[in-house]
Amino acid sequence: MTCVYATNLDGLKLIKRGKVRDLYEIENNILIVATDRISAFDRVLKTCIPQKGEILTEISLFWFKNTEDIIENHLITGNFDEFPENLKKYEILKKRAILVKKAEVIPYEFIVRGYLAGSLYKKYMKGETDLPSGLSEFDRLPELLFTPTTKAEEGHDEPVTFDELKNAIGERLALYLRDVSFKLYRRGVEIAEKKGITILDTKFEFGRIDDKIILIDEVLTPDSSRYRIAENGKVIKLDKQILRDYLKEREKKEGSMPLEIPESVVNDIKRAYIKIRNLLLN
Ligand SMILES: Nc1ncnc2c1ncn2[C@@H]1O[C@H](COP(=O)(O)OP(=O)(O)OP(=O)(O)O)[C@@H](O)[C@H]1O
Ligand SMILES: [Mg+2]
Repeated sequence: MTCVYATNLDGLKLIKRGKVRDLYEIENNILIVATDRISAFDRVLKTCIPQKGEILTEISLFWFKNTEDIIENHLITGNFDEFPENLKKYEILKKRAILVKKAEVIPYEFIVRGYLAGSLYKKYMKGETDLPSGLSEFDRLPELLFTPTTKAEEGHDEPVTFDELKNAIGERLALYLRDVSFKLYRRGVEIAEKKGITILDTKFEFGRIDDKIILIDEVLTPDSSRYRIAENGKVIKLDKQILRDYLKEREKKEGSMPLEIPESVVNDIKRAYIKIRNLLLN
């Protein structure tokens, strides 16, 4: 099976090569092509993860459909057969591309956490949160937390307080988007729980078209969320954390993180993403 590390669609205007997705301008809209690239700690690996782009696209499409009653999203279609005629010659787009409405991106990541994990856990261990003592990693939080960050053009996204967010985008919009983010996450949890999956946390992005605010980017994928299942009494990670853990391990041993990962880790990641797709969609 071929791995799609990057697309070069002759005749189309490439707007941006993101860490994972290639964006093309299609009249007033955008074609988002999910490649098989993977990134961690703000760096794109040289290793390609076969099928990853297709799986992410399928999962996002599932969540767009299951959240559209909460907020309108950018999706026009993910069905290749419905793409404009001039795109039909690009077979590579099948299953991995979606046509979306172009929005003015609100430059923040809207992160919702239901469990103690990731950077929040690190902060908790340093005593830098208001959370009650006695919590362990991956414990359910007493209430949902909203921890927005900037969307940095380069380098790390930085946490912002809710007050900073209010000052930047206006109080009304900040309150609205926090509320919508909670609703979206709760919907995710509600659907995932029935399939035996726990979503620890996730991030959303929003954009503006004229005066309307819509949900953009990808939704509740294993790239943007932490997915866990329990199997034989053990908790299993089914998201990008597999890669982060591997890279950290190598850093500990060698002093730096590699840009390439071995076949076994590629397969672990691929299997995890496929598992989430199968559990959610079946
Ligand atoms: N409807 C939309 N209109 C305009 N831009 C969009 C839309 N949906 C998603 N995007 C942008 O497309 C890009 C998706 O690519 P990808 O996630 O691979 O990039 P990235 O490296 O994460 O970049 P960024 O740090 O800007 O998110 C993101 O920059 C995202 O904000
Ligand atoms: Mg992104």
